[in-house]
Amino acid sequence: MSPRGQAVGVGGEVSQLSACRDASAMPQPPASADVEAMTEHGRYQDLSQFKVPAGFRGRPGWYVQLWWVVQALLFRPSPQIAYGWRRMLLRWFGAQVGVGAIIRPTVRVTYPWKVAIGDHAWIGDEVTLYSLGEIDIGAHSVVSQKSYICAGDHDYQSVEFAIRGRPVRIGTQVWIASDVFVAPGVTIADGVVVGARSTVLRSLQKGFVYVGNPARPVKSRNVGELRSA
Ligand SMILES: CC(C)(COP(=O)(O)OP(=O)(O)OC[C@H]1O[C@@H](n2cnc3c(N)ncnc32)[C@H](O)[C@@H]1OP(=O)(O)O)[C@@H](O)C(=O)NCCC(=O)NCCS
Repeated sequence: MSPRGQAVGVGGEVSQLSACRDASAMPQPPASADVEAMTEHGRYQDLSQFKVPAGFRGRPGWYVQLWWVVQALLFRPSPQIAYGWRRMLLRWFGAQVGVGAIIRPTVRVTYPWKVAIGDHAWIGDEVTLYSLGEIDIGAHSVVSQKSYICAGDHDYQSVEFAIRGRPVRIGTQVWIASDVFVAPGVTIADGVVVGARSTVLRSLQKGFVYVGNPARPVKSRNVGELRSA
């Protein structure tokens, strides 16, 4: 169904996709009669069955709400230079925040108690740390503006659309440039650079510069060579 409630067919979209891609590589859709029956009976996803599992958030509901209020009233309106204040608020709510970490006021943190930010790491404006699962950001790493670190998703193969936390680990001395999406379950090794507007769907290996969607290595990062150049 579309957002307005009309049924959305697949024929046009599939034929356009087939024109762009090798048809033999495309998964085959179910027969159209099956699709109709499954959709009719709520067989893809039935959100009336959705439940957040007990203990999933890691804190009681009232505590989660308290964090939202603190984030809205004390964290976000704080002056940019009040880095110590924001580090303290996050620590009060269970985050591990290292010394000298620079966290901008517009950063959004879903559950601080599932977040660890290393010494001297920088978290830029409008970054979202969607910490349904744990998010670790190593020392001296940078997450630049508007990046979205996504540590959770839904099991779309379950009718109840089960929610899952999947940790994201970002090593030390990493630079994630602007507007990067990092997918649930990904590990980014030490020293990696991820170019602006990239999409990281798989774990990335140490010492490379990755760009694109999905992110692929384009060059090695060799600071020693750059310095002596
Ligand atoms: C990733 C980055 C650091 C690489 O810089 P660089 O070492 O000068 O890389 P190059 O310009 O030599 O690019 C190497 C290749 O990757 C491509 N590329 C570089 N950045 C890319 C990006 N973000 N997305 C897609 N492709 C990219 C280039 O087009 C080039 O491809 P080619 O060899 O086919 O021409 C830079 O492109 C980038 O994304 N900077 C982030 C800027 C930013 O976010 N600033 C705000 C936060 S402070």
